[in-house]
Amino acid sequence: MTVVKDAAQAVMKKAIALAPDSWMPGGTPDPLIREKHGLIGKPVSRIDGPQKVSGAARFAAEIAMEGLTYAALHYATIAKGRIVEIDTTEAEAAPGVALVMTHINAPRLKKAPAFGTDAKAAGGDDLAVMQDDRIHWNGQPVAVVLAETQEQADHAQSLIRVRYHDEKGVTSMEQARAQGPRPGQFLGEPLKLEIDDADARLAASPFKVDALYRTPGHNHNPIELHAATVAWSGDELRVHDATQAVAHAAWTLAQVFGVKEEQIHVTSPFVGGGFGSKTLWQHQILAAAAAKLAKRPVRIVLSREGVFRIVGGRAPTEQRVALGAQRDGGLEAIIHTGLTPMTPHNAMTEPFIVATRSLYGANSFKLEVDTVQMNMVANTFMRAPGEAVGTFALESAIDELAHELGMDPIALRIRNEPDKDPTQGLPFSQRGVVQAWRAGAERFGWSKRSATPASLREGDWLVGMGCATGTYPYYRMPGGAARVTLTRDGRAVVGVAAHEMGMGTSTTHTMVAAERLGLPFEQVEFQYADTNLPGVVLAGGSQQTAAVGAAVAAAHRALVTELLKLAGNDSPLAGLSANEVGGLDGGLCALDDPGRRESYVSILTRARRDDVTVEAEAPMPMELQHWSMHSHAAMFCEARVSAVTGEIRIGRFLGSFDCGRIINPKTASSQFRGGIIMGLGLALMEETQFDERSGRIMNPSLAEYHVPVHLDVPEIDVMWTDEPDPRAPMGARGIGEIGITGVGAAVANAVFNATGKRVRELPITLDKLL
Ligand code: MOS
Repeated sequence: MTVVKDAAQAVMKKAIALAPDSWMPGGTPDPLIREKHGLIGKPVSRIDGPQKVSGAARFAAEIAMEGLTYAALHYATIAKGRIVEIDTTEAEAAPGVALVMTHINAPRLKKAPAFGTDAKAAGGDDLAVMQDDRIHWNGQPVAVVLAETQEQADHAQSLIRVRYHDEKGVTSMEQARAQGPRPGQFLGEPLKLEIDDADARLAASPFKVDALYRTPGHNHNPIELHAATVAWSGDELRVHDATQAVAHAAWTLAQVFGVKEEQIHVTSPFVGGGFGSKTLWQHQILAAAAAKLAKRPVRIVLSREGVFRIVGGRAPTEQRVALGAQRDGGLEAIIHTGLTPMTPHNAMTEPFIVATRSLYGANSFKLEVDTVQMNMVANTFMRAPGEAVGTFALESAIDELAHELGMDPIALRIRNEPDKDPTQGLPFSQRGVVQAWRAGAERFGWSKRSATPASLREGDWLVGMGCATGTYPYYRMPGGAARVTLTRDGRAVVGVAAHEMGMGTSTTHTMVAAERLGLPFEQVEFQYADTNLPGVVLAGGSQQTAAVGAAVAAAHRALVTELLKLAGNDSPLAGLSANEVGGLDGGLCALDDPGRRESYVSILTRARRDDVTVEAEAPMPMELQHWSMHSHAAMFCEARVSAVTGEIRIGRFLGSFDCGRIINPKTASSQFRGGIIMGLGLALMEETQFDERSGRIMNPSLAEYHVPVHLDVPEIDVMWTDEPDPRAPMGARGIGEIGITGVGAAVANAVFNATGKRVRELPITLDKLL
């Protein structure tokens, strides 16, 4: 069956690739990108800013409810086995305790479909939650305590005593590897690709590098802890969640509790960072199950340790990159293969080869990700899954090759710039990576770099410059939909079940909707993050802007169609089709003749209507199979390494981006800088310490799991090409994840230039330089 399905999909893919441009979404560029005008490109401050700084914004853990109880979890201490006995008597007798729930008294629940296995699946894994005595990872919740206060719940859970039968899970890479690797998959596609004979071409190449790179596991640490406040009323569940996927969360909870999707109402107006982690994990399910059992509302806020125990992170990787080149730098072979662990109960392979599919032209490719299975918390998406760690390996190897060749690393990259997608054969929708490199090199002062490592010393500090390419694909997932209501007083409400995690969604989409409608910013309200709104829109894969943009464009077209009908034959717009009409200055006008217009007030007044509401779905994202659509960045780093202690300080950093049109330079700059800061953490400090004997994460706190703080972060400069992508809504390819990509390699390459030491294992800590 799969063979038939795969074959059918392959035929479909080919047909979409070969179809005329005009049949594709993006075949006719979005009217909003024809020229630069109005709000798009203006630095607009975040509309949620005042609410956040004044404390008026209510996050998931701040919702007040009558009779609220507070939840605490008790976590397993073995990696695999069974619960022989769980003694909850002391906990039950502790002050303020309302309920202790274990697998013995938990309501019967169905499994949560794991993310990626269905369009709306949001489960971090597909394990049954507290339905039997089985333990699958060290840290799995085995009991929930509800109490009148958080402190009482926390205390009571500490009184629970569990006796386990320890079956010794697979907790080391060594053991996992011995069980045999399996092919990795990402978004339903195999992570394997071969073009020509890369091994033979590598062997025959006059210049080559061939090295192993390692990246550690990373845990998610958004500042807002994972939290939910939930209440049942009959069979209806109200969930105030911290999520980047309201529609997915509702559907998945509906599967777990055996109710209809409409019976679960999820909202999430403010999220304090997600980065891929704020999907559906056991805590929301356990809170809802316990609320059902206790017949009381429940607030669950994971402790920082709890986030490490039950929310997955980025899996570690071992990557081989081998490059073969001619004297002039032309690439003969790109080999990028390796291994990453996952679990038997999730569907997420860390896809570290994805960037390598489109970054450079070469005469041969061999790309492959293999997986092994371990008993650990299910790994998941973490900002630029694949690209963040994959570009560390690839872009370090490019730097190594440049050194071998005695060639400037930027020149080597430009020498291998492909004119179409090197592995898919598709044309690029728009690609300005060379422009980003040139502009960045100029601004950073790259010409002052010495190609000889360890040649610049300022006192005790060795100073070096390094660079690397960052890249992230344009995605747009199916399911986007939007509702628009236009009222006779010239105001509009635009609604999409999208998310604001601090990146500026509400501001940016108010700007875009206002611009599309031709209304002032103040007269447009953007509603979001509520399952009562249309759309299955994930704030992930850097695709939310495109998904919302395409949905709003579709709804806008439906609105224009409706308004043209209402305007009738007496309007200056009579005879025009929806495609020929846009919004301008509070009304509709002919796109090629703005003088031909009628205001919204006039159209609605003449039609005796107070308002018009339309709803529409975005077209299927076929543009993804018709063009190769990717963002790029040229990352520049100045590293300073103490010759005495090996301490590394980042002196300066520049990101020069090629991401299509930048809608709001203010929020975009923050996105870019935030991504780069997360990249500095990846380069220099982030590392999950996983005890390979017990499968226990040993550093589950911000005291021991280090992320950059202010003093670790230098001045970060950002710039961009601002060349609209003619195939993307608003010309914007998305900017959420690209900032972290390439940073690891830019730092490693700068450290090499400063010291002459090549570190191929993250994080680059001082012990590796001594
Ligand atoms: Mo992102 S890792 O798709 O939130």
